[in-house]
Amino acid sequence: MEPSRLLFVCLGNICRSPAAEGVFLHHLQQRDLEQAFAVDSAGTGSWHAGQPADARMRAAASGRGIHLPSRARQIVAADLDHFDHILTMDDENLAAVQAMARGRQPRALIRPITQHCRSQRVREVPDPYYGGADGFERVLDLLEDACTGLLEDLLASKPPWTTER
Ligand code: 4NP
Repeated sequence: MEPSRLLFVCLGNICRSPAAEGVFLHHLQQRDLEQAFAVDSAGTGSWHAGQPADARMRAAASGRGIHLPSRARQIVAADLDHFDHILTMDDENLAAVQAMARGRQPRALIRPITQHCRSQRVREVPDPYYGGADGFERVLDLLEDACTGLLEDLLASKPPWTTER
């Protein structure tokens, strides 16, 4: 079976979306499901292209046994037809990806990753870049919840999410 293709998107692609990618990969590894999914992350901006995830984000993830393998890149129009699901971190990322999709019929279903949260009730994964260490832990708490729900929802193949275009 073709792997389901997932793209996680934030602004810089050095904090939140690499963390989402790493957390989701970690869940896949724990459940021996790596063959069933192809995952990647991207930023709506290009400033950090080529860089590894922010050292503070990597340290926080490492504290939970999670490796962040990504190198930053900017999202391109072709991503909207390559991926099955695009999961955004905040309202601004969502609006930017929706703007790229406008006037097209993209393959990807585009929505905020927080739609998959089970216990946390939030709309956005807050940008931790200019804050302290607790912000990175908060990002991971949210993403652990969201990625657990995302994997369950995808495996159940019953889309409970609403596609926002
Ligand atoms: P991210 O965080 O979108 O979660 O990767 C940011 C990284 C860099 C910047 C802003 C947010 N920046 O302004 O350079």
